[in-house]
Amino acid sequence: MSIPETTTHSETSNGSSQRVDELMQSMRRDLDQGILPARAFFDQDLHELELERIFARCWSFVGLESEIPAPGDYMLRYIGEDQFIIARDEDGVIRVLFNKCLHRGAPVCRAEKGNTSHFRCQYHSWLYKNTGEWSGAPFRRRAYKNLDSKDWGLMAAPHVDSVHGLIFAALDADAPTLDEYLGEMRWYLDAIFGLSDQGMISIGEPQRWRVPVNWKSSAENAMADAYHVPSLHRSGEEVGVFPDIEAGGAGGSSFHIYFDQGHGMITNRGFLPPPWDKAGFPPEVSEGLEPSTLTPQQLEYTMNYSATTFLIFPNLEMIRVPATAHPGAAPTVFTYLRMVQPDGPNAIVNWNWTLGWKTASDEFNNEAYISGLAMHGPAGIFDQDDAVVWEGAPRAGKSAFARKNNMKFNYQLGLDGMSDYGVDPEWTLPGIATTSALGEAPQRAFYKRWLREISTP
Ligand code: FES
Ligand code: FE
Repeated sequence: MSIPETTTHSETSNGSSQRVDELMQSMRRDLDQGILPARAFFDQDLHELELERIFARCWSFVGLESEIPAPGDYMLRYIGEDQFIIARDEDGVIRVLFNKCLHRGAPVCRAEKGNTSHFRCQYHSWLYKNTGEWSGAPFRRRAYKNLDSKDWGLMAAPHVDSVHGLIFAALDADAPTLDEYLGEMRWYLDAIFGLSDQGMISIGEPQRWRVPVNWKSSAENAMADAYHVPSLHRSGEEVGVFPDIEAGGAGGSSFHIYFDQGHGMITNRGFLPPPWDKAGFPPEVSEGLEPSTLTPQQLEYTMNYSATTFLIFPNLEMIRVPATAHPGAAPTVFTYLRMVQPDGPNAIVNWNWTLGWKTASDEFNNEAYISGLAMHGPAGIFDQDDAVVWEGAPRAGKSAFARKNNMKFNYQLGLDGMSDYGVDPEWTLPGIATTSALGEAPQRAFYKRWLREISTP
């Protein structure tokens, strides 16, 4: 898929916008050679373009159906930097409503979560149904005699869809269907979440915390960065909470599967020795999974491989690895989902859900929850490691010295002629597979997708 040569970025006469255009031109020129400007990780104008052309255009994950099971349930979530109410209306339909009153823009909902049939704006008490429809206002008969209520409902995402209980929304009326957007990544979502016909549930509320990093550092890392694991996270093995750092990271058993759409994953063959069974789960859990909806090929994948991380472009991440909160104890496989909410070019708010199988015992799900928190989350040992190093990219992008000297970052691992790590010609399942998780081909695919989006008006 080609990247448009020119941008019609609307303010090219403006010096800062010209800088963004130059930045994009340099990326078009250098990305195939695995070179990215440091400036891509800190630029307010570029960030505005990302909000407009990526977050307001692509499908975004906004939460789990299991978080709002009953009619009237709602929760507040973000797409890009905009807050939305994710509401299940009285007919059970899930709505994604812009949390801004049509009178003066005040939020119509301030509680993080709850159950209601209507939202009343605090400012002048305009009232909206949980479908988003305008429902009334004080002194309506005398104050708004000719107001046509159908013109004044809450703005809403034009597309909302779910897959395996994960709710996605797209703000662009012309967006493709969710299935088209996911492409062949959908095949792997089925294999990962469809292991049990009854599916997965969120254990507890999502955790949230702010980190001073650029959202792309988290996305590219979750998609494919096995290279950092034995180095940055070595202490996890040393203190006995992560079983085999080489196997979990860049060791011979890990490789990539990725897609031109910028989705991708790290997959592992045989993460742990028996008695681990399907996708790394112990027999007492995997016996209850009964994945009757999977195709023979998907079953073959789940018997032989474990997806340890994935990214759905732009900002939904998953991690499924074995770990323990009790140093030296046997690990438990946990699954968590992360939505990376951008908040300016050098801050994110992480949203973390730990997932459990409906068919697994409470004991297993609780242990998975605790193991996940020990590794990831605000107090997780791995997340603390990651946050410290990811701060470097926006700081470099912001540096006057780095800008003056056009500082570049190296993404050349796995380029033809550079490394031994290439495409696996034997791979017959969907996507492009590599021979090792050490390469950076998926990261280059991620930035190519990113560049295509921000180059397209
Ligand atoms: Fe909401 Fe006035 S701003 S009623
Ligand atoms: Fe990490």
